[in-house]
Amino acid sequence: MDIDVIHINTAYDDDQKYGGLSFVESSKDIPFEIKRIYYIYEVEKGIKRGFHAHKLNWQLLFCPYGAIDILLDDGVERKKITLDSPSIGLVLHPGLWRVMTWQRDNSILCVAASEYYDPNEYIRDYNDFLKYVKSYKIRGDLI
Ligand code: TYD
Repeated sequence: MDIDVIHINTAYDDDQKYGGLSFVESSKDIPFEIKRIYYIYEVEKGIKRGFHAHKLNWQLLFCPYGAIDILLDDGVERKKITLDSPSIGLVLHPGLWRVMTWQRDNSILCVAASEYYDPNEYIRDYNDFLKYVKSYKIRGDLI
């Protein structure tokens, strides 16, 4: 599965007394321009969200506080990545089914996306997703 786990640039002061600061630059650290940022919060441990794929959006997922499991499915294989540090980023291309599971109360999931919000570019039914992936594989242009 073609996904990219990146190290997000992180700066600490010499004494590590004033906390950390992490930063990402559009088109330099991630392969797209950011059009939208959103974040999910006030979620209890054990809650699952997602259950969809995107037709167009590239996304960077990161968890600045807490721990969240990201289960990814490209229609052929599945992979789980745990975001449990502010310096881990997950770059996702379009066409990946995802389920996010909160591993700690109040963990925050931040997403930087390549497109504006459009409910029509979501695939919310898993069987539709499998059909979509299959049709693109035949055409050979799904990343
Ligand atoms: P959704 O993407 O369904 O979240 P999740 O898959 O994690 O449950 O979004 C939840 C709601 O928020 C849905 O009603 C659409 C709305 N929404 C926006 O209006 N703009 C956005 O950029 C996003 C991401 C969601």
